[in-house]
Order: sequence, then structure tokens, then C-alpha cells
Amino acid sequence: MTSPLLEILDLSVHFHTPEGIVCAVDRVNIALNSGETIGLVGESGCGKSVTSLAVLGLISSPPGRIAGGSILFDGRNLLALEGDRLRRIRGREISMIFQEPMTSLNPVLPIGRQVAEPLMVHKGFTKKEALELAAEWLDQVKIPAVRRRLNDYPHQLSGGMRQRVMIAMAMVCGPKLLIADEPTTALDVTIQAQILSLMVGLKEKSGMALLLITHDLGVVAQMVSRVMVMYAGQIVEAGGVSDLFDRPFHPYTQGLLRSMPRLGDPGKKRKRLNEIAGSVPLLTERFIGCRFADRCPYTFDLCRLQAPELTDVREGQVARCWLIFQPEKRSLNA
Ligand SMILES: Nc1ncnc2c1ncn2[C@@H]1O[C@H](COP(=O)(O)OP(=O)(O)OP(=O)(O)O)[C@@H](O)[C@H]1O
Ligand SMILES: [Mg+2]
Repeated sequence: MTSPLLEILDLSVHFHTPEGIVCAVDRVNIALNSGETIGLVGESGCGKSVTSLAVLGLISSPPGRIAGGSILFDGRNLLALEGDRLRRIRGREISMIFQEPMTSLNPVLPIGRQVAEPLMVHKGFTKKEALELAAEWLDQVKIPAVRRRLNDYPHQLSGGMRQRVMIAMAMVCGPKLLIADEPTTALDVTIQAQILSLMVGLKEKSGMALLLITHDLGVVAQMVSRVMVMYAGQIVEAGGVSDLFDRPFHPYTQGLLRSMPRLGDPGKKRKRLNEIAGSVPLLTERFIGCRFADRCPYTFDLCRLQAPELTDVREGQVARCWLIFQPEKRSLNA
């Protein structure tokens, strides 16, 4: 078997704050093959963005610190690379789309120039060649009347158009891996669907791998082959998308799925959306038992005494939950 394109091994990231050490990411493992799409989901503050920023070497230190683990990309340990060597990988081999395009687009640079820039920096293209290719990419992401818009500034575009420019920028150098952190959250539903199908199309054409970060499980269901669910800095469940949606094991995953809006079956009374009661614990806390225990409907003694490890639930699906060993507790406490 060939080794994965990206392998995050036992990654831990801490932030040193006046309130204490925030353990934002705790021993996370993710393996992503070439051409594969993985979804990373979980509530706000559970460590999704910090995980992806660590891959790109963008955790600022201080206050951040990689407290353990390694990140292998195409056989190289990214955590051991510095300066130019890391910058060369970032943008050329690994690209990222951030949630809010205005924070990553340069407000004083025309969009054509912004898409052209990575080609000049990473691939040694002349300005003329780079602008020509930038125009082709902006056309591919369906910016209308591209030639007239090359000199537009980001503020002259709508949110959906800016997001397309970001995608063009991320794709222009033909990366092997694209990390998309909530790429469509800021957009309305119609534009969201367009952008997602655009990303899927481009991905299929180019064969790159995609790590899609979102709290929108509907998006995940449409786009990914495997899902990793994060809670309070840890992966709590992972598996193939259809298994995980049909037979979620972890009470947290079950809660997330229940809180997802669905179109009601005709004839059935429409149900209220179920939120998961309570909130994510502070990550400055030192946990003894399961991190989800305070919110879980099935908590029993052991959950508060000892932290569960990721364990096989069935082929290809793992969960971090004591119910794997004591399934009867689920019916007792349901
Ligand atoms: N610079 C920082 N200093 C201190 N704590 C930080 C810093 N950056 C992130 N954190 C903490 O790390 C934890 C994980 O944050 P992260 O941004 O990865 O969450 P997330 O899962 O991406 O959430 P969201 O869905 O809201 O984007 C949070 O508790 C956050 O407060
Ligand atoms: Mg985030």
C-alpha cells in the first residue's frame, strides 16, 4: 500500500494564555490519500482550524506551540521544515481557502494580479504569462466577463465572487492538497451550492486531495468520502461518510446529526431541531474522564473516571466512547 499524501500523527497544539494553557488540539491523527476528500466537522472551538493551520505552519508562536506529533506530507515532516522550504510547499503543493475571503485577499491589489502572484512567486512565470493563466482560472471559476474584471479590486465584487477568486488563487499552482476551512459559510445557500459543485468539479479534474473543514454536515454528506468528528480538541469518531451518517456511534455525532435541519417527510409532523445541550468545555481544563460526559445522555461512572481512547466500532469506523465496551448502558439511560 502506498503511504498517505498527508499524515498527521499524534498532533498536539497548545496556546499559552494568561488563563492557562489551552490544549486546542490533543493527539490528533488524520491520514489523507491523494485524490481523497475528508471532512473535518465539529462545533465551534473544537480545534478544526488550529489543526489545519498547523499543517501550513501558521501557528504563531507565542502564544502557540506544537506540543507534540508530526505532520508528514509527501514523505516530508512539515514540522521540521523552516522558512523558504516551508513557504515553497505552502501555496505550490498545499493551498488553503479561508472562511472569510476579505481577510485573505489584498484590498489594494486587482484580482487578476492576486491570482497571478503565486504563479510568479512559485513557478517563475513572467507577469504577462501569469496574468494570462490567471484570466483562464478566473474564467474556470465562472467570474463573468473576466477580461473586463481583471483590474477590479476585491471590494468591487460580491461575497460569492470573492470566494471564487480565492478558489482560483488556491488552485492556480495545481496543489496536491487543498485545505478548505469553512469555504462557503459566509455565502447564501444558492451560491454555496454553486461554489461547492465548482470545487468538486475542479478537484475531480485535477486529482488533488481535499481536507474540507465545516460544521455543516449537509455539505459533508455531499462532498466527502470519510468524516472525522472533532470534539474539544480530539477526534471522537471517524468513518466512511455513509456509515457515519447511517450508524453514528458516538453520542456527540448522534447529537450533531440530530441538530441538522432536514426537510420533513410529508405527512409526518415536523420535529423541532434538537440542539446538543450545554457547550464545549474550556480547553484550559485538565480532563480526567470523557470530555463529552457533562453533555452526554448516557454518561455512567466510568465516563467520569477515565478517558476513553479511539476504538474500532466496526470495520472502518472508530469512536472514543465507553459505550463500545458497555453497550447496555445506552438502553438503560436512554
Ligand atoms: N491564538 C490563540 N490563542 C489562544 N487560544 C486560541 C488561539 N487560537 C485558537 N485558540 C483556541 O483553540 C481552540 C480551537 O480553536 P479553533 O479555531 O481551531 O476552533 P474551530 O474548531 O476552528 O472553531 P470554528 O468552527 O469556530 O471555526 C479554541 O478554544 C480557541 O479559543
Ligand atoms: Mg475554525
